[in-house]
Amino acid sequence: MKILVTGGAGYIGSFMTRRLLDGDHSVVVVDSLDRGHRDVIDGRAAFEEGNLLDNDFLKKVFEKYQFDGIIHFAGFIAMGESMQRPDLYFSNNTFATMNLLEEARLAGVKKIIFSSTAGVYGTPSKVPINEDHPKNPENPYGESKLMIERMLAWYQRIHGVSFVALRYFNAAGASLDGRFGERHTPEESHIIPNVMKAALSGSSFKLFGSDYDTPDGTCVRDYIHVLDLVEAHILALERLISKKGGFYYNVGTGKGFSNKEVAQMIKKVSNVDFSIDMVGRRPGDTDSLIAATDKIRKELGFEPKHSDLETIVRSALLFYKTRSL
Ligand SMILES: NC(=O)c1ccc[n+]([C@@H]2O[C@H](COP(=O)([O-])OP(=O)(O)OC[C@H]3O[C@@H](n4cnc5c(N)ncnc54)[C@H](O)[C@@H]3O)[C@@H](O)[C@H]2O)c1
Repeated sequence: MKILVTGGAGYIGSFMTRRLLDGDHSVVVVDSLDRGHRDVIDGRAAFEEGNLLDNDFLKKVFEKYQFDGIIHFAGFIAMGESMQRPDLYFSNNTFATMNLLEEARLAGVKKIIFSSTAGVYGTPSKVPINEDHPKNPENPYGESKLMIERMLAWYQRIHGVSFVALRYFNAAGASLDGRFGERHTPEESHIIPNVMKAALSGSSFKLFGSDYDTPDGTCVRDYIHVLDLVEAHILALERLISKKGGFYYNVGTGKGFSNKEVAQMIKKVSNVDFSIDMVGRRPGDTDSLIAATDKIRKELGFEPKHSDLETIVRSALLFYKTRSL
């Protein structure tokens, strides 16, 4: 199939591009490079540099290529930043996706996989969280993603667009050979790369919040290895080939680790006893986010293979060590 990968110069999108190309699909990457890196785009993919906010650019892309489907990663991803600059998130995520949906509709592209987030649920009333759990985002990032899910549902109803919204819990890890990994810009907000930096530079690590309603007081999250995450998209693509409609799936493992446990695992794997500074809460964070994964396992046959915390941390460490050599 010919697939448009938006955000293919970013962390997850670049892994997806490689996986699609290895699976004999052809790929066109669209990315503004605002927060991505040109050097991670696989040379076998075509690359169109531009912003989804730019309609003329998008029109040209859809005129130039005939796509069988879209995997839509492009967006801003920092929950904390969205609490300072909600405008950025409603514009760059929600409004930009509306442009994409419209141009895709005009070009007759009817299959789309969307990178949603566990952030659409807000503070869960029940953990693990299943897909029917009420949606009450607690930051503009989550809200911007929920708005996109809702737009997709209307496009499905009105224009017959089929979609899968994958609600990722925490994507993490690197390729097992350490060549490719997580490099978020302008600032890394994810815990594993940040703890890793502390371990490799000998600095201390700032842990946000120790008074959450969790066993050790630090936030609990469900981590999915990026290699497993991209497999979920391959399964979602197969679902869209065999069935029309709108589908929502959590992508996680169903197991949570606290921030303290993550830091301990990094100490163990790196063999560095860095110090941890406990600081106040970060606005917009919730206690525990753990996915109920029965639906994706049952309906798509999803089985994570690399998502145990130690493999995630080992692969990430290899990536950061290789980069700092
Ligand atoms: N990383 C995670 O843990 C996580 C969790 C839940 C959901 N997600 C979602 O997955 C997607 C990918 O995340 P990531 O970690 O790879 O992020 P990333 O920042 O590494 O990649 C996003 C890419 O999108 C590009 N981009 C952003 N806005 C654009 C626009 N308007 N037009 C064109 N290109 C644009 C950026 O330049 C960047 O290359 C995002 O939509 C994010 O919300 C990620």
